[in-house]
Amino acid sequence: MPTIIDCDPGIDDAIALAMALAGNELDVRAITTSYGNVSVSQTTTNAIRVLDWLGSDLPVHAGASRSLLGPAIDAAVYHGATGLEAPDLGKPSRLPDSTAAIRFLIDALSSGGDKITIVALGPLTNIALALRIEPSIADGIERIVIMGGSTDYGNDSPAAEFNFLADPHAAQIVLDSGLPISLFGLNVTHRLIATPERLGRLRAIGTSTSRITADMIAYFEAVYVQRYGFAGAALHDPCTIAYLLEPSMFDMRPMRVDVDTSSGLSLGRAVYDVWGIAGAAPNAEVAVDVDPEAFFDLLDARIAAYPSRSS
Ligand code: RIB
Ligand code: CA
Repeated sequence: MPTIIDCDPGIDDAIALAMALAGNELDVRAITTSYGNVSVSQTTTNAIRVLDWLGSDLPVHAGASRSLLGPAIDAAVYHGATGLEAPDLGKPSRLPDSTAAIRFLIDALSSGGDKITIVALGPLTNIALALRIEPSIADGIERIVIMGGSTDYGNDSPAAEFNFLADPHAAQIVLDSGLPISLFGLNVTHRLIATPERLGRLRAIGTSTSRITADMIAYFEAVYVQRYGFAGAALHDPCTIAYLLEPSMFDMRPMRVDVDTSSGLSLGRAVYDVWGIAGAAPNAEVAVDVDPEAFFDLLDARIAAYPSRSS
């Protein structure tokens, strides 16, 4: 399953990368980065710091610094000013690849090789731009697995989820691409709460990787406890990796999904035509349910796969 992960690390992005790279099932070929949680300069630095932590030398290609037309927003309140505030993963060991993300995506998806699964964990600006600049890359894409949207409430506005609010137009471009899309919104990710008991199980693995993962989640939980009254952090981005590894833990339903790109109260809101009322054919399979215990069992298993390291 050749895969490219587009992300904006970000603590939950980091955990998604850890789950993905714990084995070879996903055959991750490269990481592309975007603005989002914090600036693209910082998310790119963070992506390299995370790969250093995981012992990976995958190439990292920096992408868009702003959305197409959307509001300039960030999520530093959740992730810290650096986007990966704690624990300290140290300085990045290397610079990003000299090829920018959009150029890399177009080259990689036009190579005529294996079709690539795209995992999108941040605003969809990079994917949208690549599709607009070179539409034929669609022939090189197996499917797109997206963390974004919500069939119920928003998180960065009352109506909209952060990734879709950050670039509503890019989200609509991707949803209109005709490509197979699997969509994971807050309606399932807010069911994956890293409770103290689940954090305890993670720490009990007893390796440096499990300790650092638990410390990342512990930092991430502040807003979830204070604003949402949750019993811990919600793990959004790792949903996509869990789906690729163990799809049976999710209940997926095909439906037409669009994004409100008008200005105002519901800018960035994903709109799900569950009953096909508008008559448009489904353009995505949407996660409508998840087994949280199966998810956290998988998280533990993936993190436990990393050998203990002195750090
Ligand atoms: O709304 C959650 C999404 O926004 C996640 O991808 C998180 O990393 C932030 O980017
Ligand atoms: Ca993200």
